[in-house]
Amino acid sequence: MKVLITGANGQLGRELTKQYSEKNVELLLTDVADLDITNVKQVYDYVHHHRPDVIINCAAHTAVDKCETDVDNAYKINAMGPKNLSAAAYSIGAEIVQISTDYVFDGEDSEPLTEFCATNPQTVYGVSKLQGEKLTAQFNPKYYILRTAWLYGDGNNFVKTMLKLSETNNTLKVVNDQHGSPTSTVDLARVIIKLVEEKNYGLFHATCKGQCTWYEFTKEIFRLKGINTEVVPCTTEEFPRPAKRPKYSVLRNYMLELTTGDIMRTWQEAIEEYLR
Ligand SMILES: NC(=O)c1ccc[n+]([C@@H]2O[C@H](COP(=O)([O-])OP(=O)(O)OC[C@H]3O[C@@H](n4cnc5c(N)ncnc54)[C@H](OP(=O)(O)O)[C@@H]3O)[C@@H](O)[C@H]2O)c1
Repeated sequence: MKVLITGANGQLGRELTKQYSEKNVELLLTDVADLDITNVKQVYDYVHHHRPDVIINCAAHTAVDKCETDVDNAYKINAMGPKNLSAAAYSIGAEIVQISTDYVFDGEDSEPLTEFCATNPQTVYGVSKLQGEKLTAQFNPKYYILRTAWLYGDGNNFVKTMLKLSETNNTLKVVNDQHGSPTSTVDLARVIIKLVEEKNYGLFHATCKGQCTWYEFTKEIFRLKGINTEVVPCTTEEFPRPAKRPKYSVLRNYMLELTTGDIMRTWQEAIEEYLR
């Protein structure tokens, strides 16, 4: 099997590369310098020349606040890019994997959200990612779309930011009124590989189990690393950001539960292994 990974230098791209390297697959690894997913011609030429069986799109404009002003690029990368890849995959009979986000919801719920819940994105990032989902599904029936959240792995992420800040601060204020599920790229990559092996097409929520706030997540990170920096809970209003954050975006991996089985660990197990 030949697998094309776009955005391969990102957090998820790196983890997928690692896990697929231990399997009997031929990998085509690309990032924006080799294959810009927003360039239709480049995408078609690359896909027709290399003829992958599966395209896994790990490329995205993930700077949520910047998307609010960098609107055209947000739509180009998060919506048109997935469309180009999905249509090119369809033209050679290949499958497409697209990664989406909890930001497709408005965050006003109080129960874990399933794939059957109505979307209502509140940010440019969220709207562009939702369009990415729709266009992916529209241009190729052989799609896997996975919504994940609070992702960390090999790259820049919240965990690394907090560890860095702890080096220079005795006290840190962290938001305690946004609820979500921190998710390791290790768990997400495992699910992607399993879905592709089983040809279990469709839309899936894919986050680690359980939920916490950013404050609680930080407390656990510091506890596991033996860091003494004091963590003080604060409200979202104390940290205004250009893009509105969902207050509650806990996802339930309901489609996994109903089909392949939910193999994702609790967020506590996953962060413990990551920090070790
Ligand atoms: N990070 C999170 O907390 C989170 C949460 C929910 C969902 N997600 C989704 O999960 C997926 C993986 O996220 P991640 O954290 O691994 O992302 P990431 O680390 O930001 O990696 C994204 C990669 O895409 C590349 N890229 C940007 N524009 C491109 C283009 N036009 N063509 C090809 N490559 C391009 C980036 O290159 P440059 O760095 O050079 O721009 C980067 O290497 C994304 O779809 C994201 O929306 C992430």
